[in-house]
Amino acid sequence: RLPTRQVHHYRIQSLSWTTTRVTATNDSGFIAHFEDSHTEESLTLLRNAASTSQEILTMGNGDFLLPTFCDLHLHAPQFLYQGNGLHLPLMQWLDEYAFKAEEKMDADPVLARKVYTRLAERLIQAGTGSVLLFGTLKEETNLILAEVLQKSGIRGFVGKLSMDMSSRPSYVESSTSASLKNVRSFVDKVKKSVSHLEPHRRLVEPVLTPRFVPTCTDELLSGLGQLGKEQSLMIQSHLAEAHDQVEWVRKERGEEDIKVFGKHDLLTPRTIQAHCTFLDIPSLSHLHHYGTSVAHCPLSNAYFSTEPFRLREALDQGVKIGLGTDIAGGYSIDIMNAMRQSVIISRIRDGQRKDRDDPGSRCLTIDWKESLYLATRGGAIALGLHSHAGAFKVGVPFDAQHIRLYDSDNENGIGPLDFLDNDYGAGIAENMVEKWWCIGDDQNRMGMWVQGTKLHSISQ
Ligand code: GUN
Ligand code: FE
Repeated sequence: RLPTRQVHHYRIQSLSWTTTRVTATNDSGFIAHFEDSHTEESLTLLRNAASTSQEILTMGNGDFLLPTFCDLHLHAPQFLYQGNGLHLPLMQWLDEYAFKAEEKMDADPVLARKVYTRLAERLIQAGTGSVLLFGTLKEETNLILAEVLQKSGIRGFVGKLSMDMSSRPSYVESSTSASLKNVRSFVDKVKKSVSHLEPHRRLVEPVLTPRFVPTCTDELLSGLGQLGKEQSLMIQSHLAEAHDQVEWVRKERGEEDIKVFGKHDLLTPRTIQAHCTFLDIPSLSHLHHYGTSVAHCPLSNAYFSTEPFRLREALDQGVKIGLGTDIAGGYSIDIMNAMRQSVIISRIRDGQRKDRDDPGSRCLTIDWKESLYLATRGGAIALGLHSHAGAFKVGVPFDAQHIRLYDSDNENGIGPLDFLDNDYGAGIAENMVEKWWCIGDDQNRMGMWVQGTKLHSISQ
């Protein structure tokens, strides 16, 4: 084994710090060696014993190592118009911005490749190592997205949209049977595109993606439910997102969309539903019962939902939750912003709670540590990445980001960070992470790895 240098190890859930050594195997990218230098305990290689172990990280004062972020909800084609058009209600916004942009991508593979390449580059800068994506209708465009993601080194869960109904006549699949045939073909092709690789090098996976109830007939939803079961596929959609969408489903389908998804076998342990803002506690408990996860997208919700997600209640019900940016319903690609916004929204909700004076009542806030958990391990669990994904343990894929707060040659902060005074609060380690959580940015990210591979942008 090559020599390793000391790292600070941050255990997300308990927020305890130890000084450790971490190495990863060069060939396989699984954490191979893990050593706690305080106790001198040492764990050695678990699997895929590579002949060469590689030093992955060097950490010192003001540096720390963290799992990569997971973005559980992002519309890849909408990256094209990120930051525009959020003055409209959801259903109108879909008509005037989303469908148009997606159609444009489907008509222009050169543009699609350019946009998706830039998207992957931005995700790497932002520390997002795993991303669950909505694509477009056309197979070719989605295969470009899968190819770009695989090449970029990020874990990409790629969904070809299924839509056999639409408010835009030029942006819809020709029939229910065509839609089901198209998605089968897409799933086969994505699987085939990585089948020559060793399993741990397969970074892309196809995901069934009924856009939402208003664009899918019952027949289509039922076909997708069946296909999901047949091939154990992941499923994603939008659930109980916005006032106008919820009203539409009630009026046109005569029931709530959670019922519609449920009866077609689309609420599974491999399903991730975005938003869920209109779900009450019994419905959240229903999601827990099915093992279905939620992609919480606080920024997008502030624009489209009129109702905040019941995050504390959902956590209390045991629902699996991670964070999503919902580009372009949310304008920021940075999961750090989603973390901050999730805390802000929870604090506003708590401030408005009617039972604040009752000492036995439940506080609705989440704190920064909980949001950090949602952004990393929470997301990894929802994606079913690995039983210990998002944690640093021997045998776990090395998916990590290296954060630096201070220039090692002097005391200057990097990026927006200026001073760290050790006399306050929880102690130096926790103070550092908290400070980064509040005011850090891309400039503090020294590097990131997925499956032990250091990622660089791939754009031309
Ligand atoms: N519901 C259906 N499609 C979309 C979309 O593209 N964005 C958002 N935020 N919600 C949706
Ligand atoms: Fe969305």
